[in-house]
Amino acid sequence: MKIAVLPGSFDPVTLGHLDIIRRSSAIFDRVCVAILENSSKSPLFSVEERKELLTRVTADIPNVEIDSFSGMLVDFLKMKDAHVIVKGLRAVSDFEYEFQMALINKKLSPSVETFFMTTNSAYSYLSSSIVKEVASLGGDITGLVSENIISDIYEKIKNKNK
Ligand code: PNS
Repeated sequence: MKIAVLPGSFDPVTLGHLDIIRRSSAIFDRVCVAILENSSKSPLFSVEERKELLTRVTADIPNVEIDSFSGMLVDFLKMKDAHVIVKGLRAVSDFEYEFQMALINKKLSPSVETFFMTTNSAYSYLSSSIVKEVASLGGDITGLVSENIISDIYEKIKNKNK
């Protein structure tokens, strides 16, 4: 069974993430979306909330599971008996960091392979940060995230600003 791990912050999950999850689920037997718990960034959504949003938007993809991890990604892969990391690449600017991560992960765990998937061009400008910025300024985030999580994002931002 070929298991791929798709790591990230997913704060919140965007249509760009969902596109990569969907496409990788067609290639691998199982895709484990792994939310990083101990990020230095201060997140808008808690890990549990991000898990719930990801579960909702991937409900129609049978071979996807949502999990979270702390510490090193390669240790999480070992625990899952997985050898593949999938990362979406949007632009050249993503490449330098992702290349470094792929190489350090290979050094730490030689059996691990990193697969880069080119973003759908429709989402090449999209990031969780830009979604949060548009939403917090009262802009329309339709077409940036799944319809069924739009109200959760506005609600969370409203409550945060109280
Ligand atoms: O969505 P992001 O924030 O770009 O995701 C970054 C992520 C979670 C993929 C990256 O920070 C990560 O893998 N962190 C885990 C720690 C780790 O294994 N670092 C590399 C070796 S020190």
